[in-house]
Amino acid sequence: MSAAENLLFQGDALAVCGLLPADVRFDLVYLDPPYSGGGTMSLRARPGEARGRRVRSGPAAYADPAGAARLVADLAPLCAAVRERMSERATLYLHLDHRAVHEMKVAADRVFGRGAFRGEVIWAPGNGARGARGFAVTHQTILLYARSARDRGRALFRCDHPLLREPYAATSQQMHFKYVDEQGRRYRERTVGGRTYQYYADRGRRLGSVWTDIAAMVANTPICREATGYPTQKPERLLERIIRASSLEEDTVADLMCGSGTTLVVAARLGRRFVGADNSPAAIEIARQRLGREKVAFTTSA
Ligand SMILES: C[S@@+](CC[C@H](N)C(=O)[O-])C[C@H]1O[C@@H](n2cnc3c(N)ncnc32)[C@H](O)[C@@H]1O
Repeated sequence: MSAAENLLFQGDALAVCGLLPADVRFDLVYLDPPYSGGGTMSLRARPGEARGRRVRSGPAAYADPAGAARLVADLAPLCAAVRERMSERATLYLHLDHRAVHEMKVAADRVFGRGAFRGEVIWAPGNGARGARGFAVTHQTILLYARSARDRGRALFRCDHPLLREPYAATSQQMHFKYVDEQGRRYRERTVGGRTYQYYADRGRRLGSVWTDIAAMVANTPICREATGYPTQKPERLLERIIRASSLEEDTVADLMCGSGTTLVVAARLGRRFVGADNSPAAIEIARQRLGREKVAFTTSA
């Protein structure tokens, strides 16, 4: 086992963090824990079978213990261990939902320092039951942390790729983008501090923190190419955006609750190394198969 390899472990995230070789550093961490809703999350073993928190559904994938306090008790020590492995330009993306995000924000502030908080992404995947009471919950929250307050300014962030940009508002395009260059591209000019900058309409603007353009897996399954039947599997496009924003080629991307292996597959495709782990045998089996289909070499350990 070495820092130069892709590593996949079946085991507890905290334990895995402890047994890695000393020179393994994480340049980006994505953690997508159970959301503390309670119950057992089940697999879809066959097309048409239910997955998730259902009574009649496929085989068990993992337990989702109820209650924010329990989640915080599990995640706070894991965050502390992850922090020790983060490189100085690393970011942790911690994916949660309304049931525990507020408690976990306070706990993560204690681990990393309030000044290490780099903001949050609201992901609105376009699903969610429209119950009769109150506003339907149609979003999840991803908290971003640098290794420490001191490292906040060092944390890598790139926004040049089209996946990290969004179109200018139609009204802004009409009002401001009045010029056209020799190639027929529309642009505007802004003068800041005595320097004039050109902004091209077709390049779009830097993506904001509310993401509505990436649909949930359930919206696509079972016909979707990437669907594995694993409950709460995240779309590859979501991970591609995160990995492109906060890592470089040959960096090490860690996901220690990797489920079906979405982060690992996308990281490998983008030329990053990975450290993956999950304590569910079903998750590891699916992740292994997925990586095998992509012909990704990795070392595995129980
Ligand atoms: C929300 S799912 C992750 C889904 C994943 N992002 C995907 O795209 O498939 C949460 C995962 O955390 C795993 N898990 C829960 N507690 C864990 C622990 N202590 N150590 C490692 N994995 C854990 C579960 O087995 C489950 O696969």
